Amino acid sequence: MKIVSLFSGAGGLDLGLQWAGHDIVWANDIFDAAIDTYKANIGDHINNQDICKVKLSSIPDCDAVVGGFPCQGFSMANMGRTLGDPRNQLYRQMVRIVREKQPRFFVGENVKGLLSLGKGKALEEIKHNFAQAGYRVHHHVVNAADYGVPQSRMRLLIIGIREDIANVSDILPIQTHADPAIAFKLKLKPWITVGEALAHFPEPTDDGEIPNHQCSQYKLRFNGHLGHRYIDPNRPAPTVTGRGDERGGVVVLHHPNNRRRMTARELAAVQSFPDDFVFSGAKTTAYRQIANAVPPLLGKAIGLMLAKANASVKLKKRKAA
Ligand SMILES: C[S@@+](CC[C@H](N)C(=O)[O-])C[C@H]1O[C@@H](n2cnc3c(N)ncnc32)[C@H](O)[C@@H]1O
Repeated sequence: MKIVSLFSGAGGLDLGLQWAGHDIVWANDIFDAAIDTYKANIGDHINNQDICKVKLSSIPDCDAVVGGFPCQGFSMANMGRTLGDPRNQLYRQMVRIVREKQPRFFVGENVKGLLSLGKGKALEEIKHNFAQAGYRVHHHVVNAADYGVPQSRMRLLIIGIREDIANVSDILPIQTHADPAIAFKLKLKPWITVGEALAHFPEPTDDGEIPNHQCSQYKLRFNGHLGHRYIDPNRPAPTVTGRGDERGGVVVLHHPNNRRRMTARELAAVQSFPDDFVFSGAKTTAYRQIANAVPPLLGKAIGLMLAKANASVKLKKRKAA
């Protein structure tokens, strides 16, 4: 399928969509270092411009539009979250593009906190606005660990199916992994643990031989707060998060040896990025690109879901506009 990607960042979602066989025909962001990363690893089809200023005529036609619209204003970690936060309005840009391009499908990705924002009113409003653009819209909460990512990461998917697609309804990525307590019964693989995912990395050195694998001398604290918790090597890692706004610090998880923090390389592995995916920019910038990303393995599951739905599409006659 030809896919237009919005809020593409370093390209976690887009890499997964490519793994599922899709062609990303246009991508967009405004974060310079993430765009450099994207170009070096995914392709130079990414455009650097505020999405609010992008002309519709410059975006190619496509079969699907995807986008993890900025979520800081929706996050449970952000105590000041409000419906009026201007960052919460960027999804309207996705609505604008979906309304004009009329792809068969769209997928929006966001934090689970969006479910409860404004006692559910924010999600209702978002779904209503996409529905007005000509789509049947549903949402699902997924855990990235259920798709082979060594991290517990709950995310909300908002999925739209164009109204004239008669025979495809509630689509969902197909789960491949589960809690080891029930995986065997469900005939699924057990969750990947953070200990397993990081076992092959040598201790970091400053020689730069392994890209993005340098570590700070930061002294660990264990106070139960985000970023200061004991990491159980035998479970998926807790959620990798950015904190605050785009300029804010990043929560770097402790390594499962609980003696140092993870390097960006290790945090990327916890997000299921392959080891040869190199992040551009300074260390903190790399951490932020990684924390912002959709784990590529979850992106692949979304891509496979779209491919399967697309293969079975039967179109009804569309009403004249
Ligand atoms: C949650 S991140 C998306 C990460 C991406 N989906 C991935 O998998 O790597 C949101 C992105 O939206 C971008 N963004 C924020 N405001 C924007 C705007 N006005 N125009 C374009 N991109 C914007 C940010 O720079 C950030 O990279």
